[in-house]
Amino acid sequence: MINICNRKNDMPIMKHRNKTLGEFIIEKQEEFKYSSGELSRIINAIRLAAKVVNYKVNKAGLVDIVGAAGEQNIQGEDQQKLDVYANEVFIQTLTNREIVCGIASEENDDFIAIHGKAGDDNSKYVVLMDPLDGSSNIDVNVSVGTIFSVFRRVTPMGTPVTLEDFLQPGDQQVAAGYVIYGTSTMLVYTTGHGVNGFTLNPAIGTFYLSHPNMQYSKDGKIYSVNEGNYIHFPQGVKDYIKYCQMEEGDRPYTSRYIGSLVSDFHRNMIKGGVYIYPTSSKAPNGKLRLLYECNPMAFIAEQAGGKASDGYGRIMEIQPTELHQRVPFFCGSQNMVEKAEEFMAKYK
Ligand code: AHG
Ligand code: MN
Ligand code: MN
Repeated sequence: MINICNRKNDMPIMKHRNKTLGEFIIEKQEEFKYSSGELSRIINAIRLAAKVVNYKVNKAGLVDIVGAAGEQNIQGEDQQKLDVYANEVFIQTLTNREIVCGIASEENDDFIAIHGKAGDDNSKYVVLMDPLDGSSNIDVNVSVGTIFSVFRRVTPMGTPVTLEDFLQPGDQQVAAGYVIYGTSTMLVYTTGHGVNGFTLNPAIGTFYLSHPNMQYSKDGKIYSVNEGNYIHFPQGVKDYIKYCQMEEGDRPYTSRYIGSLVSDFHRNMIKGGVYIYPTSSKAPNGKLRLLYECNPMAFIAEQAGGKASDGYGRIMEIQPTELHQRVPFFCGSQNMVEKAEEFMAKYK
C-alpha cells in the first residue's frame, strides 16, 4: 500500500510504495527467458481497458450510462448500456494493439477473428471474456466486474482462428483474471504462478500490488447461493444448504450473496467461503457460462488453493462444446466445495 505521511505543511509524501502493476508485469516477464512478451502486452491492454471502464462505472448516475440498451444478447438477456460499452472498450483495446488473434465475448453471438494490419494472424493468443459481470447491479450502485481468460490458439499461426481455438478445456488457460469495480477498483489475475491483486489509485490512474499471493483458507464460514431458487434446486444442494444452517461445530455459516459473481468470489477468496450456482428446474444447466465465467474463476480459485467443481468433477476438465455453454458452479474453499460434492454424490 502507499504509505503517506504528513509533513508540517500537510503535503503528502510517499515514504515507500508497493510495486505497480506495470513494474510487476515487466519483472514477471523477465523470469521467462524465452517469452515473447505477448502475454504481458495482453495484461497491459486489459489494465488500460479496465481503467476506461472504471471511469465510466464511477460516473453511473451522472452520465447516460445506466439502464437497458434495448437489445438482447444471444442468451436472451437484456443488455445494459454498460454491458455494451465495456464490451466495446475491451474489444477495441485488444484489437487496436494487435496482440490477440481472436476474442469471444458473452455479449457477442460469435467469436471475432482478428487480422493484423498487414492482414496476417501472427499472434498466438485468444481472449474470452465477460466484459461486465453482475450488470443487474449497475443501477443500484453495487459492485460489478469484468472476467477474462487467455488461451494459446491450437490452430496454426498465420491462419484465421476457428471455433476450436476457443473450445478448449480450462486447464489449458495461460492466464485468467477479473477486475472488480467496487469500493476500490482491483485487478486480480494469475498466469499459473499464484494469484496477485492490484488496487487502483484513481487519483493517478495506477494499479499497485496490494494483495500479493492471494490464498483461500481451507475452510470458510460463508455460503453464497441464490436461496430464492431453493425450491428448484437439486436435492444435494438443498441438503448442503441445510447443513450450512445447522447448529454444530463452527456452523451455522453466514449467508452472503451479492448477485455479482466477481464480487461474491472476491469476498469468499479473501474471507473463506463457497459460491454455488447449481442447476435448477428453471435452469437445467445452471446459469453461469463455462468459458467466460467458470473457467477463469476456476483457474484463479485453484491457483489460490481453492477448488472449482460442477458438483461432481473439476470445472477445468470439462471439454466445451459450444461458446455460450452453461454449467453448474461450486467454487471456493477446498473443504467446503468437497463437502458440497459429498452431498451431490448421494443423489447422483
Ligand atoms: P452477467 O451480469 O454477466 O450476465 O452475470 C450475472 C451472473 C453472475 O454475476 C451472478 O452471480 C449471477 O448471474 C446472479 O444470478 P441470479 O440473479 O440468478 O442469482
Ligand atoms: Mn457474468
Ligand atoms: Mn456479463
